[in-house]
Amino acid sequence: MTLLTRLYPTLKPWLFRMDAERAHEWTTRMLRLSHALGMVQSVAPEAAQPVECLGLKFPNWLGLAAGMDKSASCVDAWGALGFGFVEVGTLTPRPQPGNPKPRLFRLPEHDALINRMGFNNPGIHAAVKRLEKRRTKAVVGVNIGKNFDTPNDAAVNDYLYGLKVAYPVADYIAVNISSPNTKGLRDLQAEEAIRTLLSALKTEQARLQKEHGKKVPMLVKIAPDLESMQIQALARVFNELAVDGVIATNTTISREAVAGHPVASETGGLSGLPVRQRSTEVLAEFRELIRPETVLIGVGGILSADDARAKRAAGAQLVQIYSGLIFRGLDLIREVAGA
Ligand SMILES: Cc1cc2nc3c(=O)[nH]c(=O)nc-3n(C[C@H](O)[C@H](O)[C@H](O)COP(=O)(O)O)c2cc1C
Repeated sequence: MTLLTRLYPTLKPWLFRMDAERAHEWTTRMLRLSHALGMVQSVAPEAAQPVECLGLKFPNWLGLAAGMDKSASCVDAWGALGFGFVEVGTLTPRPQPGNPKPRLFRLPEHDALINRMGFNNPGIHAAVKRLEKRRTKAVVGVNIGKNFDTPNDAAVNDYLYGLKVAYPVADYIAVNISSPNTKGLRDLQAEEAIRTLLSALKTEQARLQKEHGKKVPMLVKIAPDLESMQIQALARVFNELAVDGVIATNTTISREAVAGHPVASETGGLSGLPVRQRSTEVLAEFRELIRPETVLIGVGGILSADDARAKRAAGAQLVQIYSGLIFRGLDLIREVAGA
């Protein structure tokens, strides 16, 4: 068992007294340092099964969800900890600071977080430079988005730019159209908007495949706040355009499950336990509607191996965690990677 696994339960009360974003910065800095000193060992069980899909070999089915390593600054360390894959980003063409702080809030009574980070990131070029030097065997996905000041009718240019710049270093690309913290972003999930966006991206993907002599699969990350009609429309477009995979889901704007909590009225996306059920339902709806060869990644509210198994039962080949890592620590990696 690594030192970090043993330390987290001791550090957690102290970290939870700290501002949430500062605690995040501190822990990632410690992780990077520990890895540089050769002190990070995998907590994934040896028996964890590799998964082959999307033309890639995942050492195991557990991934780190987007947003934890927005700048691709610790990819090797996450891989060393035992993640089978790491999704970096969201990355935008130009660097941007994100929303004013505070913008990340804990709801420990609900095993939940609310964030309105707003795609704070160093820009796609800086991340790609780091990824060129990576050594990890973990699969690396690059999650792309648009700058906050790019209007929706020009959003396609930002995504095309991200795809092109990330293509040489990414194992897969995640197209993020579901963050609630960039104004209008989720409107790109409307049927005609997503058809236009994805048609352009698929054409570019085919061109890049020829140029680089390799196919980098493209997945779309969707919101949990979709009605059945919207899910059907999205599935129609994904099938039509043969999208390689779907990541279900991002955070929710619903506050039903946390009503009355002191920070429930903070603007942003809610993640963790309160989004678990809805994320799994959306996943299951997509599985029903989508071509069988489309890969599904289940994310949202995984706090135990059983939660991850429920995603598998709903049709996911791979799963990701974010909030669970904050509340459960590295034990969750061990449990889920081997589930
Ligand atoms: C602080 C924070 C930042 C996030 N940033 C991103 C992001 O930049 N891009 C993205 O696609 N998802 C982002 N997410 C969403 C997560 O990747 C994940 O989809 C969501 O939190 C649900 O999973 P969870 O319940 O395990 O946290 C973020 C989540 C949190 C809590």
